[in-house]
Amino acid sequence: MLKGENLIKVYSSGIISPVEKTAVDGVNIEIGEGETIAIVGESGCGKTTLAKMLMGQIEPTGGEVYFSGRKLTAMKRRELRSLRTSFQLIPQHPDDAVDPRWTIGRSVAEPLAIAGKMSREEIEDVVDGQIAEVGLGGELKERYPHQVSGGELQRAVIARAMTLEPKVIISDEATSMLDVSVQAHVMSVLKNLREKRGLSLIIITHDLGLARAVAKRTYVMFAGEVVEEGADVFENPLHPYTRSLLEAMEYSDIEDTVIEECEVPAGEHVGCRYYGRCSERTDECRKKQALRDCNGHKVRCINVDEH
Ligand SMILES: Nc1ncnc2c1ncn2[C@@H]1O[C@H](COP(=O)(O)OP(=O)(O)O)[C@@H](O)[C@H]1O
Ligand SMILES: [Mg+2]
Repeated sequence: MLKGENLIKVYSSGIISPVEKTAVDGVNIEIGEGETIAIVGESGCGKTTLAKMLMGQIEPTGGEVYFSGRKLTAMKRRELRSLRTSFQLIPQHPDDAVDPRWTIGRSVAEPLAIAGKMSREEIEDVVDGQIAEVGLGGELKERYPHQVSGGELQRAVIARAMTLEPKVIISDEATSMLDVSVQAHVMSVLKNLREKRGLSLIIITHDLGLARAVAKRTYVMFAGEVVEEGADVFENPLHPYTRSLLEAMEYSDIEDTVIEECEVPAGEHVGCRYYGRCSERTDECRKKQALRDCNGHKVRCINVDEH
C-alpha cells in the first residue's frame, strides 16, 4: 500500500562550503494495509528522514514513493497536500504537536477546524468520540498540556491525528520519553486503532523490545542503509549489528541502554558500513555489500550463508 523504492536523501548544510551528508542511502521499504512494521536502529541512522520521505514531508534526493499505486514523488504540490492527511506522524515530543496555550480539546479539534468541512457541533462530536477511543476522559478536554501526564498528552496527540482518518500512522519514538507501563498503554491504543480502522502502523524505535512486541516485520537500519529485514529478525538475527543490539538489550535494562551515535565514515563508502565496529569482519567485508534475500529474510552481510 505504501512503498519506498531505492530512497536516497542527501542533506546539504552550510552556505560557504556546503557539506553533503547522505542520511538515507538506497532504502526499499513496503507496508501493507493494516500491517505493522518497525524501523529500528540507533540515533542518526536515518529513521526519521526515511519516514518523512514516505509521508511526502521531504523530497527524496533519489527514488520513488508509491501510495495505493500512485506515485507520490511525481505529484504536484496541491495533489500531495490533499493526500497528506492520509499520513499522520506521532512525534517523540507531544509538545511538538500541541500548542501549550490551547486546551487539549482545542488542539484535538484544530485539524478539523482548519479543514473547514464540519460545523462546530459535528467537530465536537468527532473530538469527543476520538478522545474516548484513545481511552481519555472527557474532562481532559478543558485542561492544558501541562495539566496532563505525558502518556495522556501522547494519547491526545493520537486522538488529534485520528480525526483526519489517516491510513498510515507513523510513531517516531513516540513512547521513548514515557515510563515502560505508560509506553505499553499508548502502544495498545495504537494497536486497537489499527485493528478497528484497518490502519497501517510504522513504529520507529531504538527499543528492540517494543519493536518485537508490536511489529510483524522489522527493518534494521545502520548508517542510512537497511542491514536486515524480515519477520523473525529478533528470533533469528543474522546481521552482526542486529545481534549486537540484541545483546546490549539482554545485558542491560532497556531504560538504560544508551545507543551510540552512528559514526558514518566520511567520503566514499567502501565495503560494509559496519566494518569498523564488527567483531566478525573479514577481508571480504571491504567489498560493497548487497542486501541478500535468504528465504524472505534479507541481510546485508557477506558472511551469512544463503540457505
Ligand atoms: N535537516 C537536516 N539537515 C542536515 N542533516 C540532517 C537533517 N536532518 C537530519 N540530518 C542528519 O541526517 C542523519 C539522519 O538523521 P535522522 O533521519 O534524524 O536519524 P534518526 O531518526 O535515525 O535519528 C543524521 O546524521 C542527521 O544529523
Ligand atoms: Mg529520529
